[in-house]
Amino acid sequence: MTGSAPGSGSEPVTGGSGSVPPVLPPEPVVVVGMDAVGRPLSPSAVAALAGARLVVGAARHLAAVPVPSGVDTVVLGPLAPALDRLAAAHAAGQPAVVLASGDPGFFGVVRRLRAAGLPVRVLPAVSSVAAAFARAGLDWDGAVVVTAHGRELGPALNACRALPAVAVLTAPGAGAAEIGAGLTGWARRLVVAEHLGTPAERVTWTTPEQAVTRAWVDPHVLLSLAAPGGAAAGDPGAQPAVHTGAADRDRVVGPGDAGRSGEAGPVGDGGPVGDGGPAGVGPVRADNQPAAAPVGGWALPESAYRHRDSMITKAEVRALAVARLRPRLGRLVWDVGAGSGSVGIECALLGAAVIAVERDPAASIAENAARHGVAVRVVTGDAPAVLGGLPDPDAVFVGGGGTDVLTAVADRRPARVVVALAALDRVAPAVHLLRAAGYAVTGSQLTAARLADLPGGSIRLAATNPVVVLTGERP
Ligand SMILES: C[S@@+](CC[C@H](N)C(=O)[O-])C[C@H]1O[C@@H](n2cnc3c(N)ncnc32)[C@H](O)[C@@H]1O
Repeated sequence: MTGSAPGSGSEPVTGGSGSVPPVLPPEPVVVVGMDAVGRPLSPSAVAALAGARLVVGAARHLAAVPVPSGVDTVVLGPLAPALDRLAAAHAAGQPAVVLASGDPGFFGVVRRLRAAGLPVRVLPAVSSVAAAFARAGLDWDGAVVVTAHGRELGPALNACRALPAVAVLTAPGAGAAEIGAGLTGWARRLVVAEHLGTPAERVTWTTPEQAVTRAWVDPHVLLSLAAPGGAAAGDPGAQPAVHTGAADRDRVVGPGDAGRSGEAGPVGDGGPVGDGGPAGVGPVRADNQPAAAPVGGWALPESAYRHRDSMITKAEVRALAVARLRPRLGRLVWDVGAGSGSVGIECALLGAAVIAVERDPAASIAENAARHGVAVRVVTGDAPAVLGGLPDPDAVFVGGGGTDVLTAVADRRPARVVVALAALDRVAPAVHLLRAAGYAVTGSQLTAARLADLPGGSIRLAATNPVVVLTGERP
């Protein structure tokens, strides 16, 4: 589409003198970022606008810049017609400007312009994500940024459930209220940053429960932050605090200082974390790679978990179970009959959001999760009764419970179900149940014999109990 249309400025032009003037490539489309901390346009952006023949942007952006009179404008809306206009202007050699929010190369319009074959010159400004963290007075090098724009909300929501610091680029119908609803039950504080960098700017600290009840204005960015000490609804740190308008932008805002204890977080990946002092984000991985595989790996020895009476899935069995569950950032895993929580914790180490269901209130799931620097939501109670109120999982590990639990799990139609069974008489019914529910079932019996020392320097093999691992997968 670029530079080759008939009559375009890119066609060779021959002069009467016989000399061939140099063919200049058409000007790239200039993409101007609108600053999310309210700074004025840069001189280069002002110059680009002054020379433009076509300016494309959202109504609020067009209204905020000096567009010379007589210049064509396209108000966004849908991007496709605007791309056609830009391609035509570019082919005709007419300078064109696109106005976009923040850094247009960061979850922005640059990708679409390049996909349409248009060359671009980007004049970036401060991104809404950087501005939101700045307004909240928080560091964000350990944060994950996800988008809910034009895609399912589930993966963004599960990132907020899994990780202590997540920024969500929102869309109408997929914003603070919807994410708040999905985070109910997780210990999170939310920062909602509306209309950043404009006089209508409003930054609100709130809770998932309160976010559901509010009407939020688009555009807004949502920050989901682990509540230090597990603050949930009712915590004093959860009281909303608001600041509005660009005038007092530089005032520090926060959750009334509650939850700002700077309390040391658990250890994640070999280093002290949660050292951000008053930042109050909670434990962030010390290596600033929140979604990378854990440094210490997984299938950890049983000694890595506090457990009672050997009620823990053995490392060899856990290795297979975790692999089959396919945990990753954006997915939700239930660990039903969690015991020590080791399976769920290893899924969380690999980036998944996790709910551990366990009837024994004395189980050490939270303690074990904290020891490994991950967040696991613990639901204490009997399955299947407590499963009803939980959000739909992508994968479920059933380490405890009978046929009724497996039936209730299959009814929720997760993509994968993994069952560990020591009792042989339960294997065939579980296979039949999963098949009847539409799962393709594979299984194997695992018997690990571990090296053990004998007196005199010899070694022997010490058997662990055989376990059957079944995997049900939706075709
Ligand atoms: C397509 S993304 C663009 C992100 C942009 N490239 C940036 O760096 O800020 C659109 C989303 O960015 C966020 N956003 C953009 N401008 C904003 C502003 N001024 N205030 C709050 N959020 C904003 C909203 O979440 C909006 O839905």
